[in-house]
Amino acid sequence: MTELREGIHWVGVVDWNVRNFHGYITHRGTTYTAYLIVDDEIALVDTVKDYFFPEMMSRIQEIVNPSDIDYLVSNHTEPDHSGAITKFLDQVDTELIASEMGVRNLRSYYGENLEVTSIKEKPTLSLGKRTLNFVPVPMVHWPDSMVTYIPEEKLLLSNDAFGQHLASSWRFDDEVDEAVLMQEAATYYANIVMPLWMSVGRALKALGGVDVEMIAPSHGVIWRSDPDKILEAYKRWVEGETLERAVVVYDTMWGSTEMVARALVEGLADEGVEVRVHRLRDSHNSDVVADLMEARAVLVGSPTLNNGLFPSVASFLTYMKGLKPRNKIGAFFGSYGWGGGATRAGEAELISAGIELIECKLDYKFRPTVAELEEARECGKRIAARIKSN
Ligand code: FEO
Repeated sequence: MTELREGIHWVGVVDWNVRNFHGYITHRGTTYTAYLIVDDEIALVDTVKDYFFPEMMSRIQEIVNPSDIDYLVSNHTEPDHSGAITKFLDQVDTELIASEMGVRNLRSYYGENLEVTSIKEKPTLSLGKRTLNFVPVPMVHWPDSMVTYIPEEKLLLSNDAFGQHLASSWRFDDEVDEAVLMQEAATYYANIVMPLWMSVGRALKALGGVDVEMIAPSHGVIWRSDPDKILEAYKRWVEGETLERAVVVYDTMWGSTEMVARALVEGLADEGVEVRVHRLRDSHNSDVVADLMEARAVLVGSPTLNNGLFPSVASFLTYMKGLKPRNKIGAFFGSYGWGGGATRAGEAELISAGIELIECKLDYKFRPTVAELEEARECGKRIAARIKSN
């Protein structure tokens, strides 16, 4: 049993086994976290996925009689947090509270007759010694998203914001490996939050004047010791700050595109730029995007297949474009047997993703020659120079 503050309990579940979270590969599983606030009145903030309802309830029953719960707050309608609401309401007569958009979305998911109070009617809720302040943060992650702030405890129940897909037997930031924690927080931001950066920026502004000592998200561990660490990281990510890093991402049919990729990597590395390399038959799109978020350059390669892009590369480009990467330069490279086509299509995709193309012309027939590989190395060096000049 975990108590964040006196009378404020973690009553979530650890999902050790989930490895695909709507297309994002979650190597370390995740958690779905609900919080129980026991005061003169009792509130449950968020629930869990529907099939984890019994486990959440057993945790609550260790603390209070569920029928004594006065309020159920839904910060966000996505079913990883709202999935157990109807089962809960079947057993407990309580008042359900959500944002205005949350009211609409909850009814859309769970039936038009669902009784929900909008935070327009109840922007704050006094439980006795503690107050719940509801702050809408639309599009962090859905239009209905809000956070719940408890000023007496300087505690922010942030729902999706500041989360990590990290299953752990530990509950707090100071109990887990810091490098793993920040890697998972960055991967989560890149794959879920990155395209919503303007909304996140607005939310950070709205929360700017709020005194926060602890941030308790609905995924992963609680930022107890160093909430500024994740707040500062989010500010950097919202700004779109980049590092002297290039990501080389490609697939290959008979090895020619891979030869070009390796020559590019050599050129970049020779000039002192950090390079992260992904061959798409071996790397998942979400891992590539995690490396790409803070990279200054992205170099994508594909052989031509049936006059177009290799399918794994087309899939990656679609995934990346949806996440709206910012402040990137890039290039496309490839190989072909006769007509070609992948490089032309790939360059168009990079441009439409908002990536500034560096002219390289690395598109080779059958096998690249020694001279052509030298050309690719030189291209890597030129891109390195651009990376370092920023
Ligand atoms: Fe964790 Fe947008 O739900």
